[in-house]
Amino acid sequence: MSFLEARALSKTYRNAEVPVAVFSGLDLQVERGEMLAIVGPSGIGKSTLLHLLGGLDRADSGTIRVDGRDLIAMSNDELAAFRNRNVGFVFQFHHLLPEFTALENVAMPGWIGRIAHGEALKRAAALLAELGLSPRGRHFPSQLSGGEQQRVAIARALLTDPLLFLADEPTGNLDLETSERVFDLMRDCHSKRGLTSIIVTHNPELAARCDRVFEMKQRYN
Ligand SMILES: Nc1ncnc2c1ncn2[C@@H]1O[C@H](COP(=O)(O)OP(=O)(O)O)[C@@H](O)[C@H]1O
Ligand SMILES: [Mg+2]
Repeated sequence: MSFLEARALSKTYRNAEVPVAVFSGLDLQVERGEMLAIVGPSGIGKSTLLHLLGGLDRADSGTIRVDGRDLIAMSNDELAAFRNRNVGFVFQFHHLLPEFTALENVAMPGWIGRIAHGEALKRAAALLAELGLSPRGRHFPSQLSGGEQQRVAIARALLTDPLLFLADEPTGNLDLETSERVFDLMRDCHSKRGLTSIIVTHNPELAARCDRVFEMKQRYN
């Protein structure tokens, strides 16, 4: 069995006046330890897919198994706990909390997951050091560059030692050189921790440096 197996996934947004059918019948498998790139034009459903795989949103139909666990069968509370413990998420916009320092932002998933206060801070400091950000721990997000903000976001995503690392255009707002640096750090973290990673990117060079590329083309409906 693959680490991640999604079968016949369908998703339609029904919150708007006109429902938006994003995809249906979508299949995807990712092996344990694999680093997969997802590419495709804007609006095709890359973010939607990532949200479903990470349990941030629910599919209308289909099955998702991650590490043998059935995400569809989970209650909302179970899904939230699963996410906190097993999934690290990095977004295009860092989504750091502006009123907390870099160190506190990184510790936050630990506090939410009931890791002891001091232990979460200790882990956060170690992650910041690993990502070359030790001197930045006391700074607020607004005091950091775009690349530093994304490195803090990566550290935060890794705090609970997740199995699955999901990144949605993590370098979308960075210049080329900074993108490379942030990608290299993600690749290092991926290999060192034996993560299974899925990276949505518009950068073909970065996609080519992943183990495999999943291209979302036509709408699956
Ligand atoms: N919360 C939402 N409500 C309604 N429509 C949405 C929502 N999120 C995304 N969509 C629509 O779903 C489609 C896929 O969006 P998205 O997954 O963000 O694509 P991508 O990440 O590939 O650019 C788009 O047509 C988008 O407008
Ligand atoms: Mg998107």
